[in-house]
Amino acid sequence: MKNILITGGAGFIGSNFVKMMLDRHLGYKVINVDALTYAGNLENLKDVAGKPNYTFIKADIRDRAKIDEIFSTYGIDTVVNFAAESHVDRSIVEPEIFLTTNILGTQVLLDTAKKHWKIKPGDKYCKEYKPGVKFLQVSTDEVYGALGKKGMFMETSPLLPNSPYSASKAGADMIVRAYHQTFGMPVNITRCSNNYGPYQFPEKLIPLMINNCLKEKDLPVYGDGMQVRDWLHVSDHCSAIDVVLHKGEAGEVYNIGGNNEKANIEIVKFIVVTLGKSESLIKYVKDRPGHDRRYAIDNTKITTQLGWAPVYTFERGIKETIEWYLNNNEWIENIVSGDYVHYYDKMYRT
Ligand code: NAD
Ligand code: TYD
Repeated sequence: MKNILITGGAGFIGSNFVKMMLDRHLGYKVINVDALTYAGNLENLKDVAGKPNYTFIKADIRDRAKIDEIFSTYGIDTVVNFAAESHVDRSIVEPEIFLTTNILGTQVLLDTAKKHWKIKPGDKYCKEYKPGVKFLQVSTDEVYGALGKKGMFMETSPLLPNSPYSASKAGADMIVRAYHQTFGMPVNITRCSNNYGPYQFPEKLIPLMINNCLKEKDLPVYGDGMQVRDWLHVSDHCSAIDVVLHKGEAGEVYNIGGNNEKANIEIVKFIVVTLGKSESLIKYVKDRPGHDRRYAIDNTKITTQLGWAPVYTFERGIKETIEWYLNNNEWIENIVSGDYVHYYDKMYRT
């Protein structure tokens, strides 16, 4: 493993991952390919921009010729695919781009890797057979659908996606699996819960609430606010991906969760109190269509088989995250002064 293609590396999780890999693995070359959609931001990477073992290329993962050229030029032997349309609310308004980027884009990457890694139908799917190559697909727990009050998602849980976003991610998982089963491509799929931390685009719950709260704008809570997410600090997510990349068995799926189940309203109230604002800013609004009630991850496989565990408690992580946004006001202002829109208002107009 020497030349790692990280797609979507200018987004929230991808940019945290690029920086972590450059810090941890001095001998690796990191090639970051990102289309710089509304969610991609090179500001996230300004600290590493000049590093000799880091290259940024603006490209779309659906552009077959360009991806092929990148594989040839850089001798790519590892792919970590973060590139995606990632916001559920947007997928309700504009589903098509979710299917083209998340599914067809993944297939272009798989096909190109298969060609350059000389993987043929019938190759044995064991990591020894193609030493040093791997395709890691970053997926989501949302592919499993919704839980009731009890239970947790296991890697063996059925895929029952409810939003166009989660359906597109499930589609990508299926094609990644198929390239392993049919061609012997050494793949891993990771499925994590909701991430939070520095550089998250302010359309997602935590940064949106921090930003609105600071400006004393309404805090739109969907439905009764009792939907539960299992919050994972982005640096714990990145360290888990690093572990799966190096130790994950080819063909396996690994769930990644933070053991931090919280109702949305608890988080919103915590942000309000921490920032010293009034709870009267909280506005309960009509629920999101198809809104999943609860997600919770069973971490047993990755913790027992690969020895990974999250290090962040939610209490520490949320405090540090609020502080980060307070100290990086310019970063968020550059985004919200552009064409940023909160998609809630559009969801019922589709
Ligand atoms: P993000 O929206 O912040 O970043 C996505 C990045 O992909 C952006 O930089 C964007 O420019 C790039 N991109 C989009 N379309 C592209 C294309 N066609 N070609 C090349 N680049 C393209 O997303 P994120 O929150 O960092 O999520 C990263 C990955 O993790 C996604 O695959 C997402 O499904 C998955 N995930 C995210 C979460 C979460 O809580 N954020 C949870 C589970 C899984
Ligand atoms: P989000 O961060 O969009 O992630 P996901 O939908 O992928 O879980 O939303 C997290 C939770 O917060 C989800 O239950 C929807 C809810 N939510 C609100 O109540 N208000 C908001 O303005 C947003 C963006 C989300």
